Amino acid sequence: RFHFYEGNPMELVTFPVRVMKALGCKGLIVTNAAGGIGFGPGTLMAISDHINMTGQNPLIGANLDDFGPRFPDMSDAYTAEYRAIAHKVAEKIGIKLDEGVYLGVSGPCYETPAEIRAFQTLGADAVGMSTVPEVIVAAHSGLKVLGISAITNHAAGFQSSLNHEEVVAVTQQIKEDFKTLIKSVLAEL
Ligand code: HPA
Repeated sequence: RFHFYEGNPMELVTFPVRVMKALGCKGLIVTNAAGGIGFGPGTLMAISDHINMTGQNPLIGANLDDFGPRFPDMSDAYTAEYRAIAHKVAEKIGIKLDEGVYLGVSGPCYETPAEIRAFQTLGADAVGMSTVPEVIVAAHSGLKVLGISAITNHAAGFQSSLNHEEVVAVTQQIKEDFKTLIKSVLAEL
C-alpha cells in the first residue's frame, strides 16, 4: 500500500485499486488503523461513510472514462450490502463490530486537539491517514467497498499524548480478531 504522506502522488496511492478493477475484481476490502473520536482503542469499526479532509482528490485531472464518469456518485461508496454482511458475520462469530464515519487526513503528523474537536463537530467517529483516496477511486470505477478501521488510540485531546508505538502495540492486540473477521466475511461475500 502506498500512502500520500510518504510523498507518493495520488495516482500511485490509488493505482492498486485500478489494477484490481482492471483484473476484474468486483469488490474491495480496505482496512486501516485510526484514532477514535468516541470509540476507544481495540474497537473494530465498519466504515459507513467518509469525510475527505486530505485536501486532495485522486480523480483530479483528465477523467479515465474506461473506469467511470467525471462526476461519480459517492452516496453508497461504502456498500451497505457488504456492511450488513460484515455485521451479520461479526455477530455470528462473536466479534464486536461498531460502525461509524471515517475522516481522512493527509498526515503524517497526528492531529491537534483543536482539529479533533472540529472533526467531532463535523460528524467523524475515527480519523486516519489512508483509505479515502482508494475508496474514491473504487467508487469511481463501480467497485463495491467494505471498509473496517481498527481503532488504535483515542484521538488527540482525548488522551495526554499520541505515539506510533502505541498504535503498533494496539494493532498487535487486535490483529487476530481483525484477521478472523476479514476471513469470515470473505467467505460470505
Ligand atoms: N490519527 C490519524 N491517524 C491515525 C491515528 C490518529 O490518531 N491513529 C492511527 N492512525
